Amino acid sequence: MEKYNELQREILKLKKEKNALILAHYYVPVEVQAVADAVCDSFAMAKLAKAAKEDVIVICGVRFMGESAKLLSPDKTVLLPAGDAGCPMADTITAKDVLHLKEKYPEAAVVCYVNSSAAVKAVSTVCCTSSSALKVVRSLPEKEIIFIPDKNLGTFVAENVPEKTIHLYDGCCPIHNRVTVEEVLAVKARHPEAVFAVHPECCKGVVALADFVGSTAEIIDFVKASDAGEFIIGTECEISRLLSIECPDKKFYNASEGFICHDMKKVELSAVRDCLKNGTYEVCLTQNEIEGAENSLDRMVRI
Ligand code: 13P
Ligand code: SF4
Repeated sequence: MEKYNELQREILKLKKEKNALILAHYYVPVEVQAVADAVCDSFAMAKLAKAAKEDVIVICGVRFMGESAKLLSPDKTVLLPAGDAGCPMADTITAKDVLHLKEKYPEAAVVCYVNSSAAVKAVSTVCCTSSSALKVVRSLPEKEIIFIPDKNLGTFVAENVPEKTIHLYDGCCPIHNRVTVEEVLAVKARHPEAVFAVHPECCKGVVALADFVGSTAEIIDFVKASDAGEFIIGTECEISRLLSIECPDKKFYNASEGFICHDMKKVELSAVRDCLKNGTYEVCLTQNEIEGAENSLDRMVRI
């Protein structure tokens, strides 16, 4: 059987012609992941975008990921296959909200989850991802931290870095935050032997039930290295789909029904093909946004 279908072969041909690098987040459909040069979490995606040698970077993910790639590689053409794929968590905070918090806590450093706009990054001290949040917060000289915008990741950080005072903002990922303790307990009751791995964007009560807490890539690595045979996956449903393919001897259950990021699912194969063919949708940032935000993002990559 052919490894790639017709559309995938067309994409690989265009990728070569346009000298493009395709980076896919784990939450986009596995068919799209199959044509990517790398499948990654948001931290690895930022690092690979910064190191890119190609003329064009195609970000199979949501808008803030495209913006991060552009900030770290401003000379490259950065394309988003789905121009309207956004992140509802990123939309919960504006630069004005951050300035207000800075006035309230003038001694504090602002640690900004990478799931945010370039304008918000521009007024922050440093960025972090879910896999680097603890390391970034521990590395700062300030004792007081304003953590934006995810209150759940911020709570996880506060519990693990008790030596710092963390001021939280009231933002969250609606996809991860909607999972309830009752739902997880019901899945656990049906699969009592299963190991529960969760993303820190889930609420505190759900995280407290977990055997392992980590970013998307950390969950995948944990499952692959584990001797256990059954897992409850507490993050976007593409991960259990991917793991079922890559670890056919293990069983996977979603922590919640409908654990779907609809914005990530907008990145379909036809959208990747069209983006390479037509040069749409190019990520363009103002010089002010680039100058302001590249420092906070670059500092994260260096930490
Ligand atoms: P990571 O890729 O850092 O695990 O983040 C998950 C996420 O929600 C991306 O939007
Ligand atoms: Fe944003 Fe949540 Fe979707 Fe990640 S899963 S892109 S945080 S809405």
